[in-house]
Amino acid sequence: MHMHKFEKAWLIFGIGSLLVFLTVLGVSAFYLGNQPPSCLATIDPEKVDTTAPFNEPGLKKVEGKDWDYELVFVASAFSYSPASVEVPYGAKVKIIATTKDVVHGFEVAGSNINMMLEPGYISEHITTFDKTGEYLIVCNEYCGVGHHMMSSKIKVVK
Ligand code: CUA
Repeated sequence: MHMHKFEKAWLIFGIGSLLVFLTVLGVSAFYLGNQPPSCLATIDPEKVDTTAPFNEPGLKKVEGKDWDYELVFVASAFSYSPASVEVPYGAKVKIIATTKDVVHGFEVAGSNINMMLEPGYISEHITTFDKTGEYLIVCNEYCGVGHHMMSSKIKVVK
């Protein structure tokens, strides 16, 4: 079969790009362990207030885990609990959040933390706050008339 040399060049370029892409994706997923947040952890959305750890929202020190603190948030129309929380500078924190009613967002402005909170599911994110200051948490999923008023605050302190 005769193939024009440009055709051959583009074919090699195309297959090469595909291989590079799949290699980067594979290393990221299997070696670096980058995965989408778990959607396997579930909860009865009507019993959030009585289910641990959501019966005690806020920051808690934990022992013997890969992270130092667990920061529990419960979202409901149109607020977060806690409405404001202090986190020690440099601590490795696992954020654990869910919603009691409809879908809410959980975006920590100025960071790469951006989760969707779905009724019946638990959203988690592990992070280290290595900059002091105030971080605004906003809801970025339209959830009703009070959507724009939904916010919380993380204060990173030394
Ligand atoms: Cu909650 Cu928008």
